[in-house]
Amino acid sequence: MTPRPQPATGSASGKVILFGEHAVVYGAPAIAVPINGLRATATFTPAADSLSELEIVADGIALNTRLSKLATGHPLAAAILETLRSLTIPNPPAGKLQVQSTIPAAAGLGSSAAVTIALARALAASLSRELTPHAAAHIAQSVETLQHGTASGIDPTVIAHNTALYFKKGSDPIFLQPSKSLMLIVADTGEPGSTRNAVAAVRARYDANPSHHQTIFAQIGALSDAARGWLANGAQAELGELMHENQRLLQLLGVSTTMLDNLCAAARQSGAFGAKLTGAGTGGCMIALVDRQTAGRVQAALLAAGAKTASINDLAPATL
Ligand code: MEV
Repeated sequence: MTPRPQPATGSASGKVILFGEHAVVYGAPAIAVPINGLRATATFTPAADSLSELEIVADGIALNTRLSKLATGHPLAAAILETLRSLTIPNPPAGKLQVQSTIPAAAGLGSSAAVTIALARALAASLSRELTPHAAAHIAQSVETLQHGTASGIDPTVIAHNTALYFKKGSDPIFLQPSKSLMLIVADTGEPGSTRNAVAAVRARYDANPSHHQTIFAQIGALSDAARGWLANGAQAELGELMHENQRLLQLLGVSTTMLDNLCAAARQSGAFGAKLTGAGTGGCMIALVDRQTAGRVQAALLAAGAKTASINDLAPATL
């Protein structure tokens, strides 16, 4: 029997990939960090009577409907159904589930995994059930696979654990403890980037020339390995150079755009240690590694170069 639901809230952060996107799908290591300033939140309010249905309200996408009216493939329906399955709850609780997010969609910042995990946390809490980070990541990975086709699992994993990590597909993540804070500017091109299309495009190029792409993936993986050491030491100049090299390899994979390249150049010319696209690319966001002295100047340069937004994120070791 479904337990009597309680009012509950769940939330989850956004994320950026510091090194290794795309290559991670093919088994190379990658490094990702949570961005706690960007969050998805879900709030569950029980219905007065247990005969009502589960209603879903997501103002950001103008959605206000009942679960039974959503196609099972809809990402919010899939997130709810996967969560109930994981918790072995036979029927959805009666009430209203409101979803909000400050993480821009299709921007490479983990919006879809964060929404799923926020929603899973709210539902689990409303039913007084524990949801481990491992279970939350598993739920989000099922939804990601449905939405994006092939997914390495890095987004659900970093968001569910809410800590910086070194990730290899199919292995347990290694949690990282950077010695110093990381200051990152996250700038949005304003051009949407579809993860599904970007991953499929890289797959098509890989299939046409596997050995060339394997070489690029191995080079990207080597950057993640090197970065893991430099992160532990807080060596910003070295990390910046690795980011620059990663961006060059992402260009070779065909997932950068003129706008992303322009923003990376503007960041470096105005004093960033390094810059690269983050996430799937083909639009979306880029990141620039800065310090207190350069942050304001780089932010202004990014906005002048056409970024729609450019936020300064000071990621203290304790929050990474
Ligand atoms: C998306 O944030 C990162 C990609 O590598 C896809 C994935 O790892 O599933 C492009």
